[in-house]
Amino acid sequence: MALRFEASYPEGLCPGWSVIVKGETSSNPNMFEINFLCNAGDQIAFHFNPRFSESKIVCNSFISNRWGPEEVTDTFPLKAKEPFQIEIYSDPDYFHVSIDENKILQYKHRQKQLLAITKLQVVKDIRISSMEITKRGLY
Ligand code: GAL
Repeated sequence: MALRFEASYPEGLCPGWSVIVKGETSSNPNMFEINFLCNAGDQIAFHFNPRFSESKIVCNSFISNRWGPEEVTDTFPLKAKEPFQIEIYSDPDYFHVSIDENKILQYKHRQKQLLAITKLQVVKDIRISSMEITKRGLY
């Protein structure tokens, strides 16, 4: 699975927290994932999955042992080997995702028990230069 980063936040990551991943891909990337996981089982509240081969970003949730409907972007503002910054911020209704400070999507919470979202994981073709996880508060 090529785990690049994993951390647990027992008090919960949503809402109000901001995760900023700075990094770049390898020279020939296929995909990477940023996953917000729940403490119970293998549930993924938010799966953020840029796919370089298809030039699209697939977002989804894995709840009750299956994937839900995909939400796919029609823009793909990432390039192989070029540094980027991805910020994922959550409010009570959505995850908000910006790449290089441009908002690219929002994803409505499907896992409604926000306090159950306690783990952050980054996997696959990404070289992380920094991770910043801060409480931004709600606005
Ligand atoms: C599947 C893929 C999973 C996940 C999911 C999202 O095809 O195997 O890793 O990305 O799509 O809908």
